[in-house]
Amino acid sequence: MKHVVVIMLASFVLVACDPPDVVKLLKPVKEVEPIKKSEPVKRNLNPEQLSRGAVLFQKNCAECHGAQGQGVDNWQKRGADGKFPAPPLNGLGHTWHHPTVVLKYTINNGTGKIGGNMPAFAAKLTDNQIDDILIFIQEKWPAPIYEAWYRTNERAHNKTTK
Ligand code: HEC
Repeated sequence: MKHVVVIMLASFVLVACDPPDVVKLLKPVKEVEPIKKSEPVKRNLNPEQLSRGAVLFQKNCAECHGAQGQGVDNWQKRGADGKFPAPPLNGLGHTWHHPTVVLKYTINNGTGKIGGNMPAFAAKLTDNQIDDILIFIQEKWPAPIYEAWYRTNERAHNKTTK
């Protein structure tokens, strides 16, 4: 008899549960947001970041990549050491093919480990300083190049956060 009472009570609790709450519980925990494709491209040209980036670039990057990020002539040909020289970062090379995560990875880690000649900057530059440098570099990219990079970056972001 005791058992019957317990079962009856349990079913009462279930039935008494507010239906909308049950519906909420049945929904998947994380809903997938659709990828936004047609947002207009916003360029970050914050003048303070830009001038900080210019100073940092001259100090850390210009000796190899050139004062305007133009790179070395014949940057696609290996040098005598078998390694590639510094490429242009100003939109003429393929820097813009890479999303922010990849660009930051290269700047933080350099290319020594993968057989290249670029030093690592993780111990020298903060994340904010790298952002400032990227803004200085990207300010040089013509609008269609910047837009193509922006879309790649958007797709990469959607991949890494979902
Ligand atoms: C000692 C020379 C040297 C310095 C200094 C240097 N780089 Fe490089 N960088 C290179 C070389 C060489 C490569 C080509 C990759 C390789 O090593 O094969 C490269 C590649 C890159 C790439 C990848 C380019 C692409 O198109 O994929 C980025 C981005 C970059 N450098 C940014 C920077 C920034 C920003 C700085 C300053 C904070 C900097 N580099 C300082 C030599 C240098």
